[in-house]
Amino acid sequence: MLSDNININEKGHLTFAGVDTVDLAKKYGTPLYLIDEDKIVGRVREYKSAMKSAFTPDSEPCFAGKALCYTDLYRTLEKENMWIDVVSPGEFYTAKNAGFDLSRAMFHGNNKTDDDLRMALQMGVGRIVVDSLDEAIALEGIAGEMGMKASVLLRLTPGIDPHTLKAINTGTVDSKFGVAIETGDAEKLVEKVLGFKNITLYGYHCHIGSQVFDCAPFIEASDRMLGFSADIKEKYGFEAPEINLGGGMAVKYVESDPEISYSKNIAEIGEYIDTLLEKLSLKKPRIFMEPGRSTVADSGMTLYTVGSVKCIKDYKNYVSVDGGMADNPRYALYESPYTLINASYADKAPDFKATVGGRCCESGDLIQERVGLFRPERGDILAVCTTGAYNFSMSSNYNRLLRPALVTLSAGKDRISVKRQTFEDLVRNDL
Ligand code: LLP
Repeated sequence: MLSDNININEKGHLTFAGVDTVDLAKKYGTPLYLIDEDKIVGRVREYKSAMKSAFTPDSEPCFAGKALCYTDLYRTLEKENMWIDVVSPGEFYTAKNAGFDLSRAMFHGNNKTDDDLRMALQMGVGRIVVDSLDEAIALEGIAGEMGMKASVLLRLTPGIDPHTLKAINTGTVDSKFGVAIETGDAEKLVEKVLGFKNITLYGYHCHIGSQVFDCAPFIEASDRMLGFSADIKEKYGFEAPEINLGGGMAVKYVESDPEISYSKNIAEIGEYIDTLLEKLSLKKPRIFMEPGRSTVADSGMTLYTVGSVKCIKDYKNYVSVDGGMADNPRYALYESPYTLINASYADKAPDFKATVGGRCCESGDLIQERVGLFRPERGDILAVCTTGAYNFSMSSNYNRLLRPALVTLSAGKDRISVKRQTFEDLVRNDL
């Protein structure tokens, strides 16, 4: 099986986190998001201990909530004393709603409004990651008006192409995010911010991209970021106490993807950083990383009910399910690979090639093309694996479909964390 939380029981049904998925589909209806909480906690602890031993004891992973965000999850993360990366007031409001201590939050985004900045300062967000000179000037003014001092990292673009999908590649000089080291704009920004009264500069942030399998791009990013830090120290006497290397570590979606060890990758990056710091005569900075996908993807599974099987002779076999691009837009957007299983007959070998489509009024509404499945029939439960990241968080009400419920699984028990939307929810704001 793709992940150790996926199994088959004596009925031949697929289990997830030890629970029968066919039973869950019956109990809660479909489409249904499942989240394996114990797996998330395990991954959070793995990241924490790997980072503390590879870097400094106060180094921290920050979970990137853009991958998955709802109140119950932040309750779990608060218990784990986790840091978080938030990218909108909606995200940090959700965390606050869970009682999360926002002093452990980093606020990102390439266009934070004045209201966003004010709200972040008011709610005690721990770090604001300033994305541009315009934003730095605005923040200096707003913090001054509020009689506060903002704790800031500067988002830099180190000029690295990790060779993943263009749409999720963010570290190159021509990115809409951050300020480029290569052009000299980053240095100008630091110089300016060091002169501000209402901003305390803690250091620099970069994020190179997502679904990066290799360690090399992270090592290259560390190289550029620490090289920049050494440069600034020499010219301005400011040595950054914090460096944030962003998120991006990959996840195994299909059998052909390589196995990944996050702790091994972190140890490798740590070793490189140690030799680099010595060469640059820098003190060990506190290191942050922002794993989103790799914290939660393999903790998720989506269940659908099969509605029809259409075999177009000499062309394709369509299997239609009761969800689609509204709950998982990732194939439509990026042709992302996924592993699919007929959960009702998980003990039977795949004997059928299927193009799995959703119920939206759009030909591109596909979950996956040409996948092997045990031939499904109307009423069978279809499971899509590894949907914990960027599925629930990217869902929409396209075609006025209701957002599915999200059920948390822990220690063999299930509990509802997000209710299925109702038709009343759909029209709640309509006047
Ligand atoms: N930090 C920053 C500043 C980011 O922009 C991102 C992702 C992360 C951390 C987390 O990256 P991760 O560890 O999850 O790779 N919707 C796309 C992914 C967009 C990622 C955007 N930024 C997808 O479904 O693949």
